[in-house]
Amino acid sequence: MASREQPSQGMTGLGGGRHHWPVTLRHGPVILAPLRHRDRAAWERVRRENASWLRPWEATLPPGSQIGPSTYAGLVRSVSRQAREGRMLPWLVYYEEESNRSKPRLAGQLTVSGIVGGSASWGQIGYWIDQRLAGRGIIPTAVALAVDYCFKVMSLHRIEIAIRPENTKSLRVVAKLGFRPEGLRPRYLHIDGDWRDHLVFALNAEEVPEGLLQRWENLRQR
Ligand SMILES: CC(C)(COP(=O)(O)OP(=O)(O)OC[C@H]1O[C@@H](n2cnc3c(N)ncnc32)[C@H](O)[C@@H]1OP(=O)(O)O)[C@@H](O)C(=O)NCCC(=O)NCCS
Repeated sequence: MASREQPSQGMTGLGGGRHHWPVTLRHGPVILAPLRHRDRAAWERVRRENASWLRPWEATLPPGSQIGPSTYAGLVRSVSRQAREGRMLPWLVYYEEESNRSKPRLAGQLTVSGIVGGSASWGQIGYWIDQRLAGRGIIPTAVALAVDYCFKVMSLHRIEIAIRPENTKSLRVVAKLGFRPEGLRPRYLHIDGDWRDHLVFALNAEEVPEGLLQRWENLRQR
């Protein structure tokens, strides 16, 4: 089941729910925990070890665009401020291996970004996982946890995931979770050094009244 950390700061969620950051969510061995200063060494190591696995799918800055935070500390400051304001949910994904229950391992990252309220009330999810932990259903579980938080606590109405047509592994994630395909957006995001076409998938809150985690668990048990 999902659980929430003791809130240190609070605000009214964009759609009227109660959103407090930092937020930690958990289901079985999968944990979503806020990106923090103390994760720096582990985060840099996993990113370095997975550089070639991640490169084709990594967001890059188009020429002439404003440069974002250049250090890990700057990144944490920037995303934490946006998280407190309810504009972003910057989580690290941890995984508790059976052989080492007491020490969850940094497995990847999941970010809900571009959150806006009002008549839009939507956000977009991005994610990656350490190649050594791929294929265990960790990211689908993490996506389900995040989507349920966005719909139930932040009262968002729509969550979108954009995927390059070549990314067959990520396409499996949205297919298994039952995201609705919405078609191709030409040259939609700047990825791996150029503007890349993306297929867009979405879920609206009323499409998963039982919650996405419940739907995912039902599918897995079949
Ligand atoms: C896409 C990604 C996040 C999926 O995460 P995951 O936790 O492995 O998700 P799943 O366990 O559901 O596996 C998804 C698919 O990966 C493939 N897969 C299975 N085992 C695998 C392994 N050992 N290694 C690599 N891929 C594997 C399968 O096609 C699987 O689909 P299936 O369950 O129908 O067989 C992960 O592959 C990844 O980080 N890729 C690089 C970064 C990226 O693409 N990010 C997303 C950008 S939109």
